Amino acid sequence: MAQNGTIEDAKAHKFNPHFTQAVINATGPKATPRVRQLTTSLIQHLHDYARENELTVDEWMAGLDLLNEAGRMSDDRRNEGQLLCDIFGLETLVDEITYKLASDAQDEPTATAILGPFWRKDAPQKAMGDTIVSGIEGKGDRTYMHGTVTDFRTGKPVEGAVLDVWHTAPNGLYEQQDPGQPEMNLRGRFTTGKDGKYRFYCLRPVPYPIPYDGPAGKILQALDRHPYRPAHIHFILTAPGYKPIVTQIFDRNSKYIGDDAVFAVKESLIVDFKPFEGDPNAEFELPYDFKMATFEDAKKHSVAGATEVSGAV
Ligand code: BEZ
Ligand code: FE
Repeated sequence: MAQNGTIEDAKAHKFNPHFTQAVINATGPKATPRVRQLTTSLIQHLHDYARENELTVDEWMAGLDLLNEAGRMSDDRRNEGQLLCDIFGLETLVDEITYKLASDAQDEPTATAILGPFWRKDAPQKAMGDTIVSGIEGKGDRTYMHGTVTDFRTGKPVEGAVLDVWHTAPNGLYEQQDPGQPEMNLRGRFTTGKDGKYRFYCLRPVPYPIPYDGPAGKILQALDRHPYRPAHIHFILTAPGYKPIVTQIFDRNSKYIGDDAVFAVKESLIVDFKPFEGDPNAEFELPYDFKMATFEDAKKHSVAGATEVSGAV
């Protein structure tokens, strides 16, 4: 008979009804309240999952093999664990829980979207109006992106906002995935002046598959799903006194716009690339304004509480 249960209990239930509580009770008194909360809930859900699905040892082992393979594949250029979370929508859900603002305001700050695994710190600081394209000139649709960073509540321009931007090359690869691209290609940081305005040249992005040669790809295949993301550009916005924004904008006309493999598209982040005439450096124009919330405003209206962004910003 299993631990801690009576024979009557074991007969009345298919599985020992006391087992899960016994595992939860093993947590010692020095565990912090948050660790206790998170692990208690995790144990409960894991055990319920196993019981509900009558998970076999072989199935559990197959899952472990995938997790171990994901660990072995991961390094500073590849985060397979994050990819696994992404295809199950977990990064998008956690992003929503962390950053959602209760919307009592007329206007709202720019919506957030997942960071994804391809951000790199220390992207080159560029002068306003520079291009982030290097070494692949002649490829892709050159785009002039510009706009203003404002305070979402007052509408005033935000000075000193840093726009950290990155996207893939026309072959669908980020520079760290592709030995054919120069270091830090298609990445840059731009800082706004008093008028809050920004402008730079980039490429019109393309849809691309998330890496599918590992466990995430095996799961996508088993689920009869494709690995593609719609064309998008990533941003992290930071500014003194303002809550950082991690986000992406999505090309309305892109394939997969309604079917993102990692569920990150939000209506307010869909944009229109416009044909651009009169600039020898760009075929397309992309006007886009960002709206930021002060820490104070963000705290007042945060659903999840005052959570700081860790890691990237
Ligand atoms: C990305 O957009 O860079 C990305 C997001 C999730 C998984 C893989 C890539
Ligand atoms: Fe991306």
